[in-house]
Amino acid sequence: MSRSDVKDKMDALVKELNQHSYNYYVLAMPTIADYTFDQKLEELQQLELQHPEFADPNSPTQKVGGEVMKNFVTLAHKWPMLSLGNTYNEQDLRDFDDRVKKAIGEDFEYVCELKFDGLSISLTYDGSKLVRAVTRGDGTKGDDVTSNVKTIHSIPHQLKNKDVPPLFEIRGEIFMHRAAFERLNKEREELGEVQYANPRNFAAGTIKMQDSKEVAKRPLDCFLYSLNTDKNYFKTHWESLQTLKEWGFHVCEHTKLTNHIDDVLSFIKYWEEARFKLSYDIDGIVIKVNSYAQQQELGFTAKSPRWAISYKYKAQEVETILEKVTYQVGRTGAVTPVANLKPVQLAGTTVKRATLHNANEIERLDLHEGDSVFVEKGGEIIPKIINVNLEKRQADAIPVIYPVICPECGTPLIRKAGEVAFYCPNDEACPPQIVGKIQHFISRKAMNIDGLGDETIETFFQHGLVSHISDLYTLHEKAAALKVLERFGERSIDNMLKGIEQSKQMPFEKVLFGLGIRYVGETVARKLAFGVKNIDTLTTASIEDLISIDEIGLKIAESIIEYFSKADHLEQIERLKSQGLQFEAIENEITLQSDKLTGKTFVISGVFEDYSREELKELIESNGGKILSGISAKLNYLVAGDNMGPSKLEKAKKLNVPLISQDDLLELLK
Ligand code: IVH
Repeated sequence: MSRSDVKDKMDALVKELNQHSYNYYVLAMPTIADYTFDQKLEELQQLELQHPEFADPNSPTQKVGGEVMKNFVTLAHKWPMLSLGNTYNEQDLRDFDDRVKKAIGEDFEYVCELKFDGLSISLTYDGSKLVRAVTRGDGTKGDDVTSNVKTIHSIPHQLKNKDVPPLFEIRGEIFMHRAAFERLNKEREELGEVQYANPRNFAAGTIKMQDSKEVAKRPLDCFLYSLNTDKNYFKTHWESLQTLKEWGFHVCEHTKLTNHIDDVLSFIKYWEEARFKLSYDIDGIVIKVNSYAQQQELGFTAKSPRWAISYKYKAQEVETILEKVTYQVGRTGAVTPVANLKPVQLAGTTVKRATLHNANEIERLDLHEGDSVFVEKGGEIIPKIINVNLEKRQADAIPVIYPVICPECGTPLIRKAGEVAFYCPNDEACPPQIVGKIQHFISRKAMNIDGLGDETIETFFQHGLVSHISDLYTLHEKAAALKVLERFGERSIDNMLKGIEQSKQMPFEKVLFGLGIRYVGETVARKLAFGVKNIDTLTTASIEDLISIDEIGLKIAESIIEYFSKADHLEQIERLKSQGLQFEAIENEITLQSDKLTGKTFVISGVFEDYSREELKELIESNGGKILSGISAKLNYLVAGDNMGPSKLEKAKKLNVPLISQDDLLELLK
């Protein structure tokens, strides 16, 4: 390479890596794998060593990635928030161990911890009180996100233990449990909102939101892993971790203290597989020298401490063939591309499909039919195509082109300003939209109709028995046609018709949610129902009327107005009204769905995949059960989700309180 080629290469790397840093830290939407990023960073570092004359002061090797987000007050960190050096193999780690040994020259210990895949946070406690929570930002200053952080249940606002330093800073990682991520993302999909790629992005996006009330609806958690004080209260990191637990902080239990690098390597090996059983994502292991005195001796480089390092797991990646791209039309009309792959084993499962998110993603990857693609399953629950193996592309390969008309009904697609998804606007006649809307209406969280399922709706639609929600309520007139259908015995028809009849008693807010108005989720439907009191006020409400209701913003209001501007929708409402459905709010009254839990007491703890704790509480109470605040010998059931507090678990075991899962609870209700 000529000197000018080297300089061009270095400039290009700086530019590219800074862009990736920005995508990762600011947008929380990384577009390359961490491993590839680190390899490129290493390449740049090598070039800078060989050609210091070309080194750019803006090089990402000189600073911690990330910039300060707008709209928050910026605060300086008292102790800079550095990052960690990364290693990817045994040799790198043994080299680290040799460097430490050489520098210290005496016995030492390591603490091994999990490397949580979230966003780091600095918490300041003054007089036992949480006074400040600041993001990492650029490492020297970050955003003041105190009010958002205060919504996280596992972060104490006030420490019970008074025997703590008068002023201290504690650091940790904010993250979202996978179960909550999947539940909330499913809800976003149902509402036609863009889904987050992984729990880390969801957590990062949440903590940077302006409205703390919104933050509170998204359960976040936080593991704490380091303490900073002016005076030395402890001699070792291990000792401080144990003490942090006693002070009431959430410290991860999966840690190890050892004096040998071989033990570190077995810890790494163990968690490489076991990590998939955790309820949250980790992307590696962090190794820290235990003694604070020895940490001080080792000191820091410009970017990271010499006494700690991370070992990053490679996201599991395989190469396979893209057979074809298909397009799914959802209930809201959003058209989502899906990559259909030649089946391949990855992270313990067979992968046949990968998400392509939207048209931009197809363009970014420049996909061609029959391409050999690299598929990754890292933090993401759904596998993702990282890039294409261009060397294997056939010369005559045909590019994948996102359709301009709906693949289901042929209507030209539209894209709304500021949105990435394309929509089919034909919501009255596009088959998957019709079926999806009826399926949503009967679903558990909406009208919860017994004896009817998604497949049945599909069959009914294909046989011309339903094409609108209101057709469900005339099915009893079509008994003869139903009996002809395969799989439909008299008993199941009776059951279904009974379920449909009973659903007429479902409260207004459930009916409203069931209509499937874009952006009107469960909570919004409840607020709306009690805000407007009845359907007539809602159908005639103005934007101003709507936004005066608590939690209804402009986006939701506009969507409601648009919904009721369609004659077809108004006609449906009239029909449902005459069929006897509830279109008036009955306030402050829990409608008892059954008395199956009467006399039984419950405590709910942990995170659940299908329900929020609030929803489970509602479910129990509406079936006659009672929620208690704490565990005692007279408690009947502890409903346990992921990541329950160990003290609760212990107490329940001691008092012989039966532990039940979300599914056991549903079983009790059957
Ligand atoms: S200690 C001097 N411990 O990883 C850096 N960091 O790549 C001290 N992280 O910014 C960080 N789990 O956001 C530490 N157990 C753990 C961690 C951890 C995740 C994150 C943290 C840090 C980044 C460094």
